[in-house]
Amino acid sequence: MNDSNQVQEHLKQIRLADGAVAAASETAERDEYRLHYHVMPQSGWMNDPNGLVYFKGEYHLFYQHHPYSDKWGPMHWGHAVSKDLVHWRHLPVALAPTEPYELGETGGYGCWSGSAVVHDEELTLFYTGHVDGRQPLEVQCAASSADGVVFRKRSGNPVIPGSPDEGNVGFRDPKVWRHEGTWYMVIGSGQSSRGKALLYQSEDLEKWDYKGIAAESDGTQGDMWECPDLFPLGGKHALILSPMNMEGAKNLYMAGEMDYATGQFKPQVQAMLDHGPDFYAAQTLVDDQGRRILIAWMDRWGSAMAKESRGWYGAMTLPRELLLKPDGTLAQKPVPELEKLREKGESVSGKLLEDGQTASWQAAEGQGFEWLAEFDWCESDAERLEIAFLAAEDRSEETVIVYVPGERKLILDCTRSGRGDVQVSEAILPESGGRNLKLQVFVDRSSVEVFANDGDIVMTSRVYPAALRGGLHLKPEGGAVKLQSLNIWSLTRS
Ligand code: FRU
Repeated sequence: MNDSNQVQEHLKQIRLADGAVAAASETAERDEYRLHYHVMPQSGWMNDPNGLVYFKGEYHLFYQHHPYSDKWGPMHWGHAVSKDLVHWRHLPVALAPTEPYELGETGGYGCWSGSAVVHDEELTLFYTGHVDGRQPLEVQCAASSADGVVFRKRSGNPVIPGSPDEGNVGFRDPKVWRHEGTWYMVIGSGQSSRGKALLYQSEDLEKWDYKGIAAESDGTQGDMWECPDLFPLGGKHALILSPMNMEGAKNLYMAGEMDYATGQFKPQVQAMLDHGPDFYAAQTLVDDQGRRILIAWMDRWGSAMAKESRGWYGAMTLPRELLLKPDGTLAQKPVPELEKLREKGESVSGKLLEDGQTASWQAAEGQGFEWLAEFDWCESDAERLEIAFLAAEDRSEETVIVYVPGERKLILDCTRSGRGDVQVSEAILPESGGRNLKLQVFVDRSSVEVFANDGDIVMTSRVYPAALRGGLHLKPEGGAVKLQSLNIWSLTRS
């Protein structure tokens, strides 16, 4: 097929799909697994957040999107905006594959992940044009907009037509930022079984020069690094990654020093950003308050639920502020704007929970909820604390958080959460000054996000319970637990 035939064929597919889309959005609206206060597609497929940016008073969230089915396919950029990170409005698709460098003959083509920058009153998106083939073709492209809604692809695309030899197993997901008047771009890549973040530099956002490898895997950190994001944070730099084929981790951050003269990032600390199974392709933005906000795809490749036909698939995590702690590690806190969602609440303070006894509290059923609990471990001698929620009356179905104070171990047990894959996540809480345990947990209709000790440890998991039950059941074992305070709120739809 020549180029113009290809475009015609693509347009024909779009027309055929239009009817299917209308039917899909109707099915989606009736679906009990649709989230009430997380960003998700109106219909169709969603994966990575793209182009996170604060532009003209609004947060823009673009995302990998297949508008014509609930399965991954030729990638478009979906688009949503918000003034407060809580209430989002969907806008028309920002990028669709229309040019030869992003159109292929099989489903594996399109406008793949990337980022956005604001310059000269314009919003410019950088993304990867991907065309499948025996040797997939990946090039970096740009598209600009004055109003932040309608984007014009550059006539000079691709702006980077090919990878350097030292990083040519994958060449995608450009993240662009500015440092002291110069533009930089990191691109995810790999070679010789090592993931790599390639660095480019530009004075004008048009002509890009290759600077070299900013960072690479030490041999244990995956063979290809998807969606790198490199940015200053609290006097250091952080690099966040979605490593492919890394043992035991699907997301990773490194914090350390960036030397712009040599183009090299030297990591000093490394850890997972999120210990749950449903957190991938995280990206950040800086807003007008100077906050570094992170959003990730709240899902994972290969999830059993993705095989079902619901008319939609995929969602984003809650926006979280990223902070560098004095010990050089990172913490993530849900943005305080989310407090706007709180409705009816219940609170308790200074209660001793007895060994082996279950204490229960209710929140409205059928709705999302949030709870915030603080336990005083100086006045507790239990060996284990179990917190069950989304629990059926006979407890045959429930999601359980377990804390084992002797090991400072936190467990999110989703083995009996409902449908979908069975997942157990574990992490050791870092030593903190006091011995208290603080848990802030957000439950939406099919998601759980756990923030322990002000975001020192975070766990995100999708769950698919039979019913959205609002209760919370606390049970200490091997001793008592002092519940210093507990607040439970029902959360409204955003
Ligand atoms: C990560 C990813 C990216 C790619 C995009 C395609 O989830 O594989 O590397 O650009 O998804 O949809």
